[in-house]
Amino acid sequence: MRTYPALLSLLAFSAFAEPAVFHGADLKQGEQLIAEHKCAACHAQKAGGDGSAIYRPQGRISNAAFLRGMVEQCNTELNLGMFPEEVTSVAAVLNRDHYHFTK
Ligand code: HEC
Repeated sequence: MRTYPALLSLLAFSAFAEPAVFHGADLKQGEQLIAEHKCAACHAQKAGGDGSAIYRPQGRISNAAFLRGMVEQCNTELNLGMFPEEVTSVAAVLNRDHYHFTK
């Protein structure tokens, strides 16, 4: 069982690579909500292309909690009516695809 400690540290690493705020987030639901609320369509009008240039990991958003807060703000301002766990799902998908925050 020489590989066992190596496997354990690998598992520990992947647990840390996912920010705690996104733990257990429903990524499938997040993807559906992003499509449903036409996030990309509106962002494309402002940023061009497919709209993903609006997501700036190097910009003012600097961690997972901040990212989630930003999605919550859009949710409120645009009256999207998402539940808190839906906001979390959406933010988790944006993190997976664009921001890659580990905390
Ligand atoms: C009606 C238009 C519109 C819709 C719909 C919209 N957004 Fe946005 N969003 C914007 C604009 C405009 C900005 C840029 C604000 C700025 O930087 O001045 C923005 C910025 C953002 C940012 C910050 C990007 C960054 O890194 O600074 C996030 C995150 C975001 N939107 C998420 C969402 C999500 C998720 C949805 C769908 C649930 C959504 N938005 C729907 C217009 C929209």
